[in-house]
Amino acid sequence: MRLKDKAVIITGAAAGIGRAAAVKFAREGAKLTLVDLNEKGMEQTLELVIRHHPGTEAIIVNADVTKEEAVQNYVNKTVQQYGKIDGFFNNAGDAGPAAPLGEYNNEEFKKIVDINLYSVYLGIKYVINVMKNQGNGSIVNTSSAGGVGALENSSPYVAGKHGVIGLTRNAAVEYSKWGIRANAICPGFINTDMVKGVAAKQFPDNPQKFYDQITASIPAGRFGEPEEIANVVSFLLSDEAFYINGAVIPIDGGFTAK
Ligand code: NAI
Repeated sequence: MRLKDKAVIITGAAAGIGRAAAVKFAREGAKLTLVDLNEKGMEQTLELVIRHHPGTEAIIVNADVTKEEAVQNYVNKTVQQYGKIDGFFNNAGDAGPAAPLGEYNNEEFKKIVDINLYSVYLGIKYVINVMKNQGNGSIVNTSSAGGVGALENSSPYVAGKHGVIGLTRNAAVEYSKWGIRANAICPGFINTDMVKGVAAKQFPDNPQKFYDQITASIPAGRFGEPEEIANVVSFLLSDEAFYINGAVIPIDGGFTAK
């Protein structure tokens, strides 16, 4: 139980990687704060957590993570409930519409940067001050393969995810002296609703074409599963990863190694 009694916040907890993380962290003994704007999805995540790991302490906080008051609220609720924040999986994100850079809608661009970058900044900002007072804490920010290279027709997503790596490095360097670690993960193509949405947007007439093309470009020869991301994050949040700070970790079946 590598997260025994640790209080951990997960954003984007209503689906995909965040949901798999909730189940994995519960298995490792964590107390959870589930954050998302999809209340029904969070209830389903909680149900899954309790079914697999009865007795897990967990709260749900409905929040749009791009809104400052909502972020302060999920941080405050966690401190009220558990008296501390040991781990933060800063994971909510959205791929946005598919379009080449020169044709991107300006308002959509700003919105997608907000959800992928500004929300991550706000989360770190409020969580890290709690961790600073405690003198410890571990943060894992979700970047992407699109955080270290281009993904066609996804310029605000790619710009935001590159920014997440910059924020991670700054948090790591500035707050290490208070016992805080910050690392970024870069998932490749993972079987979640987000990827389903991307396939439908990139190839509206034949989404299967997206899966075939991408699969051919992944050395592992398959998409990843959300649990394969959750396993790595659980390790990074634990004390076993104590000397890992400011790292950028691909979890992509070799996709970005080429
Ligand atoms: P998902 O679409 O299954 O889950 C994302 C969750 O974030 C949803 O529950 C959604 O309601 C929530 N969310 C979106 N905007 C929000 C907001 N403003 N406030 C609160 N919650 C919000 O997607 P998935 O795949 O689980 O993605 C999780 C993270 O992993 C995202 O940051 C994504 O960019 C990243 N990622 C995913 C990859 C994939 O292939 N699935 C690859 C690389 C990165």
